[in-house]
Amino acid sequence: MTDHTRSMTPIIEARNLHKRFGTFTAVDDLSFRVEKGEFFGVLGPNGAGKTTAIRMIYGFSPLTSGSMRVFGLNIEQGWREIRSRLGVCQQENTLDPDLTVEQNLLLFAGYFSLPKVIAGQRSRELLEYFALEHKKQAKVEHLSGGMARRLMLARALINDPELVILDEPTTGLDPQSRHQVWDKLKELRSRGLTMLLTTHYMEEAAWLCDRLIIVDHGKILVEGTPRALIREHAGDSVVEVETPSEALREFTRSRNLQHDDLGNRLIIYNTLGPDLEHQLRGAFCDQTCTFRQGSLEDVFLRLTGRGLRE
Ligand SMILES: Nc1ncnc2c1ncn2[C@@H]1O[C@H](COP(=O)(O)OP(=O)(O)O)[C@@H](O)[C@H]1O
Ligand SMILES: [Mg+2]
Repeated sequence: MTDHTRSMTPIIEARNLHKRFGTFTAVDDLSFRVEKGEFFGVLGPNGAGKTTAIRMIYGFSPLTSGSMRVFGLNIEQGWREIRSRLGVCQQENTLDPDLTVEQNLLLFAGYFSLPKVIAGQRSRELLEYFALEHKKQAKVEHLSGGMARRLMLARALINDPELVILDEPTTGLDPQSRHQVWDKLKELRSRGLTMLLTTHYMEEAAWLCDRLIIVDHGKILVEGTPRALIREHAGDSVVEVETPSEALREFTRSRNLQHDDLGNRLIIYNTLGPDLEHQLRGAFCDQTCTFRQGSLEDVFLRLTGRGLRE
């Protein structure tokens, strides 16, 4: 293989993935690629199939059909090498509660057969990196939620992986912890690590991800950069109107504007530029209008709907 062709090999190449549990299809013909150095996002409501799909990447969920290549290796034959080159931070807390913080890291280093000296050095570096040094002798059960998450992240990096898979790494964290995790992830990204992230925080996805897919009912709805998706589905700006007048509704219909009518609230997605905004401000808006930028949350809600999933 020449350097050129090697650089073209995607880190993850998923083709026509299917996963069925009995008669239920959790992953329904999913195809995506993640390139080297990319920060790739997988978004979707609860039950969309995100965890099931990404478990296929590290061999925890056998494919019903389709193919998965990681680092250019087929998951079925290459899973041993693949696992040695990737790090996983699972959605649920999988730390060993009976062990200390440091022991959790060393135990994991053992799974990768790291020599003791290297394991000790890496664990010291990671504890420092994730601000856990002062807790290294503490039992995991005494850690706060934020600390446990940071330890999960540290543990995912113990084997110096080329690819890190993060399944909802910031769910349940307070804003301070979340921002701290974001900073660390950004920094790792800038060192060339390839990352795949699932999250329910749209702001997080928009900030971290180079490219993302939105999945629902096991299928990809859209794929793109956060910016392009926002522009396409939410427009340049969004106008939210409390208790909209019938005249405004009529205007929205007659101009064929992209909108969501929630009854007591009308959301207009302005894909037509500043003229429309001037018109709305002039003719329909007193204090009941809020003008704001379109966001990834708009895109997500427009594509997956506002109905509750659980
Ligand atoms: N082992 C399993 N057996 C049966 N159904 C499962 C299993 N794992 C996941 N599912 C179902 O598959 C769907 C997708 O789950 P999951 O991948 O965890 O979604 P997400 O991570 O997007 O919230 C859900 O409806 C879930 O109940
Ligand atoms: Mg999940």
